Amino acid sequence: MKAVVQRRYGSAVLGELDVPVPGQGEVLLEVRAAGVDMGTWHLLTGKPYLIRVIGFGFRGPKSPVPGRDVSGVVAAVGPGVTEFAPGDEVFGTCGGSFAEYAVAPVARLARKPAGISFAEAAAVPISGGTALQGLRGVQAGQRVLVLGAGGGVGSYGVQIAKALGAHVTGVCSTSKVELVRSLGADEVVDYTVADFTGTYDLILSCGGERPLSRLRRASTPRGRIVLVGAETGGSVTGGFERSLASVALNPFVSQKFVPLMSTERADVFDELRVLIEAGRIKPPVDRTFPLSEALDAIDYVYTRRSRGKVVVTI
Ligand SMILES: NC(=O)c1ccc[n+]([C@@H]2O[C@H](COP(=O)([O-])OP(=O)(O)OC[C@H]3O[C@@H](n4cnc5c(N)ncnc54)[C@H](OP(=O)(O)O)[C@@H]3O)[C@@H](O)[C@H]2O)c1
Repeated sequence: MKAVVQRRYGSAVLGELDVPVPGQGEVLLEVRAAGVDMGTWHLLTGKPYLIRVIGFGFRGPKSPVPGRDVSGVVAAVGPGVTEFAPGDEVFGTCGGSFAEYAVAPVARLARKPAGISFAEAAAVPISGGTALQGLRGVQAGQRVLVLGAGGGVGSYGVQIAKALGAHVTGVCSTSKVELVRSLGADEVVDYTVADFTGTYDLILSCGGERPLSRLRRASTPRGRIVLVGAETGGSVTGGFERSLASVALNPFVSQKFVPLMSTERADVFDELRVLIEAGRIKPPVDRTFPLSEALDAIDYVYTRRSRGKVVVTI
């Protein structure tokens, strides 16, 4: 099969690999599309170095193929799989979706939402799942601030917060203002022109590493500040120290910092499927790239040109 092959961190090429064989609780997917996000860049480069010690491979990547978000058709099932059968259309995450075939555990797959394309489905799992988990507990009428609202996680954050009945303010740069408005944000702040004001019940911080003190000032006294991520940290910890600092700060402040570590699970993807089929959220696909240009797709996301999501189609 054709695949993007990555034997060491920092370099990958289009090559040929054997079709993988599904093991216990896994299925073989004929990949139709693979989502791209900042995590794809992290696993390609091995940066920040922290990811190498938390299980993705110390000297080189554990998976020889990059890409986690996936949509496709089940081609074969491994031992013990009863949830899916060959021919089923699914989406979720796997290890190595930048390839014609990939093996995925059923614990990280759900039925593909009806009425959307494979490319749109592949744009959902990690970004949509992260936003959904970050917004747990939001009540109708609450005020939600989404930082990085024009990016992968933030663009779902805006839509899911609106679906929950919140009043949503999205913060992004000029080129993403129209997108964030179209996603349903009640207010859009272009941070290159002015900074956000006001106080919020929940802040979903997905871009721009604002100091914790700045986030606290923008939070209601009992508000929650969910730290999703930012790309402003160094190459060792990638800003993870901000999450650690927030945990140390929690006992002394009335607001609650939540350093988010999202999980990739079938039940989360199924919740997203229901929201999509009900028309409450729509995968915001900016651009698709063919497999032969997968590295350009990652660069497009890394250089922050992408509005919403980017997908590699196979
Ligand atoms: N904790 C977890 O489980 C988890 C899961 C997924 C992702 N992440 C991390 O979360 C972060 C966001 O992921 P993503 O996939 O959404 O990345 P993304 O698509 O690159 O989106 C980040 C957005 O932040 C915007 N931004 C940058 N500086 C900003 C500022 N000062 N104010 C407001 N917005 C700003 C960027 O564009 P503009 O500057 O042009 O607006 C970009 O649209 C990444 O660091 C990723 O690694 C964490």
